[in-house]
Amino acid sequence: MNRPARVLTHIVCGAGPASEAGQLVKLAQQRGWTVQVVATPAALDFLDLAALEAQTGSPVRSQYRKPGEPRSRPADAIIVAPATYNTINKWANGISDTYALGILAEITGLDIPIVVLPFVNVALASRLAFQRSIKTLRAEGVLILLGAGGVEPHEPHTGGKFIATYPWHYALDQAERLGQHTQTYRL
Ligand SMILES: Cc1cc2nc3c(=O)[nH]c(=O)nc-3n(C[C@H](O)[C@H](O)[C@H](O)COP(=O)(O)O)c2cc1C
Repeated sequence: MNRPARVLTHIVCGAGPASEAGQLVKLAQQRGWTVQVVATPAALDFLDLAALEAQTGSPVRSQYRKPGEPRSRPADAIIVAPATYNTINKWANGISDTYALGILAEITGLDIPIVVLPFVNVALASRLAFQRSIKTLRAEGVLILLGAGGVEPHEPHTGGKFIATYPWHYALDQAERLGQHTQTYRL
């Protein structure tokens, strides 16, 4: 009997690569994942919602569902990409004022892979608050692909040059690597 497709929740924040979120959806679908996209309110301006909804076959959620609306499917893995300075700091500090942060608040520390691909400039990345947030989330088991082996912060006002090479595939590779453990565990 075929196993049901694993569910990837792709959380998209408001930064340049959000406009290319469909790339991760396509890649993950090619590898057998069912993908549901959750956007922060700020990310909505970057997205082609109709295209993403056609691609995933499900609504792009940016708000809590209303009573009676269907629940999202439980995720087997979560990728936050692009992850902004704002969402990383709020998440690390326990703030839950967007639907995306609500998901992250509840799922952090459970046995579900969470992979974060930040997109920040060096000015934001050098802030102590941000560095503390990265440390906090890593201590809670979140895989943050920043620095060695991940993405490097870019110079301010140059982000546009790095959208084309934003490594969506690397986030997915890492989620699948972490998921090998949890899948075995669930059998
Ligand atoms: C065109 C544009 C590009 C942006 N690029 C970035 C970025 O690369 N990284 C970042 O952390 N914030 C960036 N921002 C700022 C965020 O969108 C802003 O902090 C917002 O509050 C993030 O909300 P969210 O974390 O809920 O998505 C950008 C904003 C705009 C309008």
